[in-house]
Amino acid sequence: MFIISSKNVLLDAQKRNYAVPAFNIHNLETTQVVVETANEMKSPVILAATPGTIKFAGEKYLINIMKVAAEIAEVPIIFHLDHHEDVEAIKSAILLGAKSVMIDASALPYEENIKKVKEVVKFAKRYDVSVEAELGKLVGQEDDIVVGEKDSQMTDPNLANDFVKRTGIDSLAVAIGTAHGLYKSEPKIDYDRLEKIKEKVDVPLVLHGASGVPDEIVRRTIELGICKVNVATELKIAFSEGVKNHFKNNPEANDPRKYLTPGKEKMKEVVRDKILLCNSNDKA
Ligand code: 13P
Repeated sequence: MFIISSKNVLLDAQKRNYAVPAFNIHNLETTQVVVETANEMKSPVILAATPGTIKFAGEKYLINIMKVAAEIAEVPIIFHLDHHEDVEAIKSAILLGAKSVMIDASALPYEENIKKVKEVVKFAKRYDVSVEAELGKLVGQEDDIVVGEKDSQMTDPNLANDFVKRTGIDSLAVAIGTAHGLYKSEPKIDYDRLEKIKEKVDVPLVLHGASGVPDEIVRRTIELGICKVNVATELKIAFSEGVKNHFKNNPEANDPRKYLTPGKEKMKEVVRDKILLCNSNDKA
């Protein structure tokens, strides 16, 4: 198979009321974990990369890892640019083969957000690339994007339809009470807001900041219309726990093939749990 856009996969999730998990990956090993697990569980899957990850792994390396993953996998593989703010970087990745992008202009005033998103949508449509954008701002830190409590903003349901229609996006990231990173206390989700957004908007809705959110909360948001669930921090924690444990028990270890494997195994448990949580298993 080839790398595909997220459009039809998310529309299927919307129709059948499940969510497609989007896992942030960083390199070959983390990609392998996600692809292997998705294959075993017959789940469509989104592999997401922030600008920081692209800088770390190298744009061409990463995209070509994704192309190989899609070739090997028996399930739909979507490579997604997560939280990209730089339009030129998005265009460059699209020209190399990326088929799914998030333009994050949520820090800008409303009209400027729309203008920037429209520019990306115009370019993306030429290459059959799906576009996600965000209205509202999640609190917390996602790589280099840091949003403090006072700058965070919930998605306004009254603007959501106007935003979707005027930009032409394929999916909408909503701010309804989740945060990037871990939580100090249980997140308070504004389910009413989510319901109102769902009533007004027909494109699939995206939940960012799913790490550390209790399962029953994520399940409820999926029932109410979330079609894509983003997970990053929990994967990093699991991978590093596996590696740390290995070094604890084998302080002399120096072979990456040996110390990275327990990291992969630990991360795999999280990927499996999130696929089950999203109910995306057997949907590919
Ligand atoms: P977490 O790190 O909180 O899981 O958030 C991931 C995310 O939303 C990526 O866009």
